[in-house]
Amino acid sequence: MYYPEELVEEIRMKNDIVDVISGYVRLQRKGSSHFGLCPFHNEKSPSFSVSQSRQMYYCFGCGAGGNVFTFLMEYEHYTFQEAVKTLAERAGVQLPELEYSQEMKQKESRRVRLLEVNKEAAKYFYYLLRRKEGEQGLRYLQGRRLCDETIKKFGLGFASKYSDDLTKYLKSKGYQDDLLREAGLSSIDEKHGAHDKFWNRVMFPIQDMNHRVIGFGGRVMGEGTPKYLNSPETPVFDKSRNLYGLNFARTSRAGNMILCEGYMDVIAMHQAGFGQAVASLGTAFTEGQAGLIRRYTQNVLLSYDSDGAGIKAALRAIGILKESGLTARIINLAPYKDPDELIKNKGADEFQKRIDGAENSFFFELRIQEQQYDMKDPEGRTRFHQEIARKLCGFAEEVERENYIQAAAQRYGIGFESLRRLVAAYAAKTGLAKETARPRSGIQKKNTPEDNAKKAQRLLLTWLSEEPALYRKIKKYITPKDFTVELYRQTAEKLFAELESGSLNPAAIISQFADEEQQREAASLFHTRLPQLDQDKKEREKAFHDILVRVKTYRYEYDSRQMGSDISALSRVIEGKKALEELKNTHISLD
Ligand code: UTP
Ligand code: MN
Repeated sequence: MYYPEELVEEIRMKNDIVDVISGYVRLQRKGSSHFGLCPFHNEKSPSFSVSQSRQMYYCFGCGAGGNVFTFLMEYEHYTFQEAVKTLAERAGVQLPELEYSQEMKQKESRRVRLLEVNKEAAKYFYYLLRRKEGEQGLRYLQGRRLCDETIKKFGLGFASKYSDDLTKYLKSKGYQDDLLREAGLSSIDEKHGAHDKFWNRVMFPIQDMNHRVIGFGGRVMGEGTPKYLNSPETPVFDKSRNLYGLNFARTSRAGNMILCEGYMDVIAMHQAGFGQAVASLGTAFTEGQAGLIRRYTQNVLLSYDSDGAGIKAALRAIGILKESGLTARIINLAPYKDPDELIKNKGADEFQKRIDGAENSFFFELRIQEQQYDMKDPEGRTRFHQEIARKLCGFAEEVERENYIQAAAQRYGIGFESLRRLVAAYAAKTGLAKETARPRSGIQKKNTPEDNAKKAQRLLLTWLSEEPALYRKIKKYITPKDFTVELYRQTAEKLFAELESGSLNPAAIISQFADEEQQREAASLFHTRLPQLDQDKKEREKAFHDILVRVKTYRYEYDSRQMGSDISALSRVIEGKKALEELKNTHISLD
C-alpha cells in the first residue's frame, strides 16, 4: 500500500524544506532558522519558523508543525501519497507502481471506484445544469442570487427529469449496477429496472477535505417532498465525520467557524465573504463533526434558523460543542429565518454586525428557558432564578463561576449576594460540576496523572531531538519502553536508534508512520514547548530532571497497576523502582 521507506526518505532529502516552503510563504533568515507569516492561522508578526538543519517547520502561534510532506498535506490538503508524488516529481525521482495486499487492493479499489463514479456523476450533473435539460435548475439558482463563480466553485448541478437518465449515462461509461447502487446513485429493482436516486433536483455535490466528491444533496424543484434528498452513507460517505463546506472553510483565516443548517446557507455565506461557514449533512450535528472543527478553531458561531426547530437544534449543538471544549456563540438572525435571507435582504455588513454581536451560549440557553416561566408571578420568577442557580453550578472553575454569577445577577435583576448564596445552596445539595462532568473539554479540564505523564513524555522527545548530546546521559535511565503511549513508544524507538547511531533525523521519523493522523501526532512530539531557553542553567537542569523523574515514575506506577493481572510485571516494577531511586539521586548536567 505504501512506498518503500527508503524511497520516501530519498524524496524527502531531495526536497529542501526551506526551498519548498519558500514557494508558499515569504521566509526571512534569522539566526539558524527562517521565519515568516504562518499560513495556517491569521497573524501579523511572523511566528512560523522553518529549520533547515532539522528539515522541519513549526509555528509558535498555532502549534502547526511537521516535515516537508506534512506541510503539503496541510497546505494543499494532499494525502500523504499525493504529497510524496508531488515532491517526487519536483525532485525528478521515479516512483514505482504501488504494491497492495490482496485485501487492501479490493477494499481500496472499491473506494477508488466509488469516488470515481461520484465524480463522474457530479460532472454529469454539472454539465446538465448548463444544457436545455437543466434550464429550470439554473434559473432556480440564479433566482437565489448565486453568481456563476459560486455555482462553479461548489460544482452545483442538475439531475434531469427522466428517472433513469444518470444510471443510463453511467452504465454507458462502463459502470456496473452494483457500484451505482453502492454509491447510492441508483436503485435497481426487478419490476422497474434501474432507477435514479435523484431526479429533477438541483444537485449539491458534497466534498471531503481533499475536495473529493463523497455524496450528494439534491433540492427538489418546487414544493415536493422531501425538500432535500441526501445520499445514503457509503464506504466513502460518513455523514458524522464530514461537514459541508469544510474543504474551503479549513483554510479561511477568520478565527472562527460558522455552523449553519443547510447547503444553501453555506453557499450564500461563502459568496458573501464568510468563507468559514460549514453545515452538517442533512443530519443532526455530531461529536465527530465537533472534533473536526476543533482541529481548526475553538470558536464556533451558530447560525441556525430562528424558528422552533432551529432553536432546538442550536441547543443540542451547544451541548455537543461544549463537551468538545469549544465555545459557542449564537448569531441572532431576527427578523429573518436564516442567514441566506438575512444576507439577501441586509447584506454582508449587517451579517458581520450580527457575528460581532453574537450571544454567549449560556445566556442564550437562559433566554430560551425563561420563556417557560411566568415572570410576572413571584412563584415563576423564583423557579426561574433557581434554575439559573442550578445552571451556574455547571461552571467548575471558581473565577468563571463568579463572573457568570455577577453577569446573571445583573441581567435578571437579582442581588449578587443572594444569587451567590442560592448557587452555594444548590452546590451543597447536588455538588458543583465535577471537572470530569465535561470529559472531552480538553481545554478547561484539569490534567489527569496520565495527561501529565504524556506531557512529560512529549517534552522529553522534543528535548532530546533539540539537544541530542543529552541522550548519552539519560540512556542509562530511560528506554523507549518507558513511553506508555504506543505512538510515543514507537517514535522513541526510532529516535533513540538514531541518537544511538549519531545520525539524528526526526523529520524522517514522521514519514515512517503509515497513517496521516499518526504522522501529525508524531510531528507534534518534536514540537512540544520546552521550558524557556533563556532560563538559567540551574532551572533548566531542574526542569529536565523533573521530566525524567516524571516519565520514570509514571512507568513504575503503570507497571504496579498491571501487577495483579500480569506476573512478569513484578520484575519490571522492582527494576523500575531501583532505576527511579537512582535517577532521583543523580544530578544530570546540561553541559
Ligand atoms: P431547511 O428546510 O431550513 O432548508 O432545512 P433551507 O436550507 O432553508 O432550504 P431552502 O433555503 O428552502 O432551499 C435545512 C437543511 O436541512 C436539511 C438540508 O441540509 C437543509 O439545507 N434538510 C432539510 C434535509 O436534509 N432534508 C429535508 O427534507 C429538509
Ligand atoms: Mn433557507
